[in-house]
Amino acid sequence: MNVLWWQRGVVYQIYPRSFQDDNGDGIGDLAGIERRLDHLADLGVDGIWISPCFPSPMADFGYDVADYCDIDPRFGTLADFDRLLAAAHAREIKVILDFVPNHTSSQHPWFVESRASRSSTRRDFYLWRDPAPEGGPPNNWISDFGGSAWEWDEASSQYYYHAFLKEQPDLNWRNPVVRQAMYDVLHFWFARGVDGFRIDVLWHLIKAEGFPDNPPNPAYDASLGLGEMHRVLQIHSTDQAEVHVIAGEMRRIADSYGERVLIGEIYLPLKRLMHYYGREIAGVHLPFNFQLIEAPWNAKGIATMIAEYEAALPPGAWPNWVLGNHDRPRIAARLGEAQARVAAMLLLTLRGTPTLYYGDELGIGRIEIPPSDVRDPRELREPGLGLGRDPARTPMPWDGTASAGFTSGTPWLPLNPDWRTRNVARLSEAPGSPLALHRRLLALRRAHPALAVGDIALLDGDHQEHDVLAYERRSDGDRLLIALNFGARPRELCLPSWAHHARPLLSTIEDDAPPVRAATRIVLRPDEGLVLGTD
Ligand code: NOJ
Repeated sequence: MNVLWWQRGVVYQIYPRSFQDDNGDGIGDLAGIERRLDHLADLGVDGIWISPCFPSPMADFGYDVADYCDIDPRFGTLADFDRLLAAAHAREIKVILDFVPNHTSSQHPWFVESRASRSSTRRDFYLWRDPAPEGGPPNNWISDFGGSAWEWDEASSQYYYHAFLKEQPDLNWRNPVVRQAMYDVLHFWFARGVDGFRIDVLWHLIKAEGFPDNPPNPAYDASLGLGEMHRVLQIHSTDQAEVHVIAGEMRRIADSYGERVLIGEIYLPLKRLMHYYGREIAGVHLPFNFQLIEAPWNAKGIATMIAEYEAALPPGAWPNWVLGNHDRPRIAARLGEAQARVAAMLLLTLRGTPTLYYGDELGIGRIEIPPSDVRDPRELREPGLGLGRDPARTPMPWDGTASAGFTSGTPWLPLNPDWRTRNVARLSEAPGSPLALHRRLLALRRAHPALAVGDIALLDGDHQEHDVLAYERRSDGDRLLIALNFGARPRELCLPSWAHHARPLLSTIEDDAPPVRAATRIVLRPDEGLVLGTD
């Protein structure tokens, strides 16, 4: 099998506002990322995905793009980008950018022109509609950030559609001129040498013809606090068949540049997600698999999830796994530090490309953002539901100096309260730290083809009772057993016969205690994950 870099490799997501500030304005930038590449090389990642760094009014912190082919001055210049790309490549780290094709900023020149008059040549770049016959918005579609997804434009007496903020009007992907203009963006960056794109809300690009109302969601319960968007089922506003043609066109462009990767952001049930690998025509290389972010944390449920995901993959499709991102609570905030370590072992030993989220290698946990510091428009629009994303976006703590070495100015969001002890410099020196564990896991993955590219086989039901998830990874001559205790009590695991002489290569509990075991069994301590091997 010809294994490509993004199959063998580990991706690391950088939220650029929060990684490293180089110019003292309290906001991270590209020169800052370049300065910290050694951290990423030491960690052992193969690629970085940088959330949007393009010119933007920052209504949604860069997911509202005003110019797709430049760098926002807060983050630097195109020359800074070229330097970062070269410096990353010199360390054999690939660079993946964030493509935001569904919507632009309302300050993008296209929208400014489109809005200027009904007869503008760019009017049809966006989704303009008359009011409903009885007045009001054209249909019942709800923004993902709450409220109607239609914004009234007084001057031209029509509504425009925005799946997110009103400052993020949706493009009309049925217009071939829009498509070509957006494909030109891909060419621009691929020709510059970028190694791939994460594609924002890929499943949103096409809306049903005629804009029919979405059906009400019978399971909607406002008291659950999941957000108003769940009041309807988004069956007409998202995931339309034609989107696969677009994914195919993007794929053809990516493939024409050699080994580049397209990672689609798609939140859909498994069957529909699989469709984004493509059927007759190839789709994106990796439709993001967010199941570990969304699933309850228990061994049995996750074993079933792994089995179902593996079984659902179309022939030739490469799996991938994610524990967190800039939109979701951090893994250690959800599970606590001990289980976050087990989760890291899971992520980095499953079959498929893992994406790590910056700061998770430090075990950053729960952070309360005081109301006066809230920045996220999601939180500001539907406050108090716990949907705010600021806690997952706080600055990376590098050391024990002022502002954790993140900035010489005032950080745009507060730091994790324990930054004086939980920072890269301090945890680098601490043998049992989450950072040390991540480094060892990545090194193990690099050393063992079974982990990077081997098969996976879940141990049968007996082994998965009582909080334990266990599986084998195998490739030619290389075989490992991974056993994860999801609970707070010791658990015994019966070893398959090949593993009777296996020894622990790595534990999530990094002390010198020898494992309790007989030839055929091993005891997992509370919250312990183990990788066992025979070499
Ligand atoms: C998904 C992005 O991950 C999120 O941060 C953003 O708010 C929306 N798409 C809109 O672009």
